[in-house]
Amino acid sequence: MKVCFVSSECVPYIKTGGLADVSGSLPLSLSGLNTDVKIFIPMYDKIDRQKYNLVKLNELSGDSVSILNMKHQYDVYHTKHYGKIDAYFIDCPFYFSRGVVYTSDIDENERYILFQHAVLKSLQKLGWSPDVIHCNDWQSSLIPSMLKLQYSWDNLFSNTKSLLSIHNIGYQGVFPSDSVVKAGYGESLYVLGGPFEFNGFANFLKAGIYYSDIVSTVSPSYAAEIQTPEFGSGLEGVLRARGENVFGILNGIDTNDWSPVSDNLIAKNYSYKSLKDKYVNKSELLKLSGLKNEDNVPLFGIVSRLAWQKGFELIVELMEKRIGDNFKLVVLGAGEEKYEEYFTKLMNDYPDKIKVFLEYNNKMAHLITAGSDFFFMPSRYEPCGLNQMYSLNYGTLPIVRNVGGLADTVIDVDKVNGNGFSFDEFTLEGIESAFDKALKLYSDKQKMKTVIGRGMSSDFSWDKSAKEYLSLYSKL
Ligand code: ADP
Ligand code: GLC
Repeated sequence: MKVCFVSSECVPYIKTGGLADVSGSLPLSLSGLNTDVKIFIPMYDKIDRQKYNLVKLNELSGDSVSILNMKHQYDVYHTKHYGKIDAYFIDCPFYFSRGVVYTSDIDENERYILFQHAVLKSLQKLGWSPDVIHCNDWQSSLIPSMLKLQYSWDNLFSNTKSLLSIHNIGYQGVFPSDSVVKAGYGESLYVLGGPFEFNGFANFLKAGIYYSDIVSTVSPSYAAEIQTPEFGSGLEGVLRARGENVFGILNGIDTNDWSPVSDNLIAKNYSYKSLKDKYVNKSELLKLSGLKNEDNVPLFGIVSRLAWQKGFELIVELMEKRIGDNFKLVVLGAGEEKYEEYFTKLMNDYPDKIKVFLEYNNKMAHLITAGSDFFFMPSRYEPCGLNQMYSLNYGTLPIVRNVGGLADTVIDVDKVNGNGFSFDEFTLEGIESAFDKALKLYSDKQKMKTVIGRGMSSDFSWDKSAKEYLSLYSKL
């Protein structure tokens, strides 16, 4: 089986969220299952070419993509991903040297139009004919239609099928209607109610859902949710029309990077048997946070993009009501200004209790995961979520809303085999009831240890999920 995996971010080169974790590890697991995988991502200026030993491939470089009347030249770089599989980087500084991964620039559509054409042109130059092109999110969701409408003349692709994985339906790639022409399609393809049109705009994700041979998303619950008006962000009808070709496969986690036994970014490694060493991490975290280390005070952690999706309004309401309780909170996050302001104010008002790091910091993310007693993730919606799985494996009990991938991984402590805390309604009462259960459990050390044990012994590794992807590819 030959699979071309196309993504807009990939660990270890560049990351803004969970998509990068998935892109870094799923292809590797697939390659362990006798699959020949090649990864394609854009060459952002933030990528460290030297560190990752990226080498320009002259035979793939120097070609160009025309967007309207402008020809944009690009080069292709290569490295062996973790020494094992081919990773290619589409280098077009005009579009990708912007200091950040995603932009709200007027030509955001063009950036990924160029990327996707360059991927297909590179496959042509390589003469490599994939059985499946696995696209991820809107940044690569035009490839299915490009294959069918623009590249079908090339026999190289005559047996190539496409799979589109939706990691977050909240981001659809919605642009002015002329984007369709910019992407190389005839103007007549943009018609009201057609595959590319959505509320008077071009919608790249919609076209992907329409033209891909199979659609998948990153948890079974989210696969069902996005077919409803509450979670479908307007695309529920299009998804329902593809109903029997919409699948949900839970993400795995990369246990090489995320395991308390071997994690080299934390203060001290530990397992369930040496759980006391977890608390060395708690001490270190409190120290780095400038918070006093006091006995019997539970520590809550948050590591997240600061985005509406993640439900921070509930944290703020909870803090306002329960700040007098006995606990501490460490937050690591970057994103929307409104939330940065919320948390800064909270820290300034309660400096003995709250510490906020407004940055992207992988090492700190690991330490918070290891050093906290509880981990907040009260998302409004959550396609899969990786942090709750990391937390479970690190013996840090997650407090989550019962949606999407959170519902598929966290079982409330009041249920059989409970491994964390989960609430249904997006309300203060909801999160408060989970918070109360957490405080209560914290005071019963023996019971807490039993619950911790369930999460630490769960297997969230990629093996199972990679096999499920393989069976979807086979179906294709
Ligand atoms: P999403 O992709 O919606 O952001 P996930 O839970 O799938 O949510 O993945 C988030 C990933 O990004 C995790 O690996 C998490 O540790 C990481 N992350 C998020 N914010 C930060 C941050 N401020 N610093 C370091 N890592 C972060
Ligand atoms: C998205 C989702 C997150 C998911 C990640 C990887 O960013 O918000 O829930 O875990 O993609 O699939």
